[in-house]
Amino acid sequence: MKQDMIVILDLGSTKNTDLARQIRNLGVYSEIHPHDITLEELKHLQNVKGIVLNGGENRVVNGAPVDVHPELYQFGCPVLAIDHPAARCEKKLDTLPDEDALKEFVFDICQAKANWNMKNFIADQIEQIRRQVGDGKVLLALSGGVDSSVVAALLIRAIGKQLVCVHVNHGLMRKNESESVIEVFQNQLCANLIYVDATDRFLGKLEGVADPEQKRKIIGGEFIRVFEEEARKLEGIDFLGQGTIYPDIIESGTKTAQTVKSHHNVGGLPEDLKFDLVEPLKQLFKDEVRACGLELGLPSSMVYRQPFPGPGLGVRCLGAITRERLNAVRESDAILREEFERAGLDHKVWQYFTVVPDFKSVGVKNHARCFDYMVILRAINTTDAMSATIERVDWDVLQRITDRILTEVEHVNRVCYDMSPKPPATIEFE
Ligand code: XMP
Repeated sequence: MKQDMIVILDLGSTKNTDLARQIRNLGVYSEIHPHDITLEELKHLQNVKGIVLNGGENRVVNGAPVDVHPELYQFGCPVLAIDHPAARCEKKLDTLPDEDALKEFVFDICQAKANWNMKNFIADQIEQIRRQVGDGKVLLALSGGVDSSVVAALLIRAIGKQLVCVHVNHGLMRKNESESVIEVFQNQLCANLIYVDATDRFLGKLEGVADPEQKRKIIGGEFIRVFEEEARKLEGIDFLGQGTIYPDIIESGTKTAQTVKSHHNVGGLPEDLKFDLVEPLKQLFKDEVRACGLELGLPSSMVYRQPFPGPGLGVRCLGAITRERLNAVRESDAILREEFERAGLDHKVWQYFTVVPDFKSVGVKNHARCFDYMVILRAINTTDAMSATIERVDWDVLQRITDRILTEVEHVNRVCYDMSPKPPATIEFE
């Protein structure tokens, strides 16, 4: 790592990521670490120019206030304490600094250089990937989403033919999704791509499982097993590439905040995992991943493709998955995407999808009582997926989508629009 870094130590703040982003927006790299990092661990981080002790409402854990190891004050770089009464340093603040105060700390006091940019990040990562992988081979889960596509491009740049991409169709893909992954990566980018149709296997394992965390863990665990099987067939695979990004890690729980949900890249890994992981995007926020993709020369249609969670439609077919409701999610999602594209909203809205809950409501179809499922539409805007606002979709567009879903999708008699921002709701329902 050639770039200067400001380390944020999490002492119970809920604003760690906001602060990290603020610092990165100044062109200086920043990472969040747990409060109990040791002096030795801190020394292993390269080019640390300053430390922020970021206190806040989660500062009491198991009845005791959290604090840093006192030896950290001997590290020898400036320390800024925010809302952390116990700190032993000159500079203390009660709230997050404004831009001028932050600039003063980062540039004047810490003397950090504004050298955080995608060119440098890519150069760093290529060096690190080559050092980690050596002559080994990397197996990459290529879902076709932004994250895995950018990882694929980065790994191709770093290690070329040592990369083997595997696309697993877990039966929870969007309509025509697998077909387009094959078209783009196999036919256009000539990647070394293996296609595995594991639909029956995944749906079998998920049968009757209603708990969201358990569903995520089953899907994540099964994914790894499929890869292990592919790796055994291939021989000589030592590494698993993953499109893990920073919010996945942060939301999978910190030492001061409880788990929001375990992301399938992180919490779902089985304990008998046989691979070392290559996760070159794990310090990037979503908008930085896109910038990285553009810098690597990926087409903007791929880079600005809306995100799709690893567990796929599995977390949008709420409760225990059935093929009937899965079909309703897939078909309604395709209609939503078609109509958003027609209305020019596909470039404007960050993420939009449909959800089908596992209960029915009464309706009337063809002059007779019916008892069917509902489709919930969700359309949100965000920059980093950590918080989100609702898109005010034009009424006529909503009407057209509703009409089409009610006439074209089987077993659906009601369409609703989700008005909830994040927080308190997360973007996905499960
Ligand atoms: P939430 O629901 O946590 O979603 O507000 C934030 C963003 O992450 C996507 N998401 C995932 N991405 N693996 C992923 O790679 C996952 O398990 C996962 N779960 C949610 C979600 O679609 C949204 O863009």
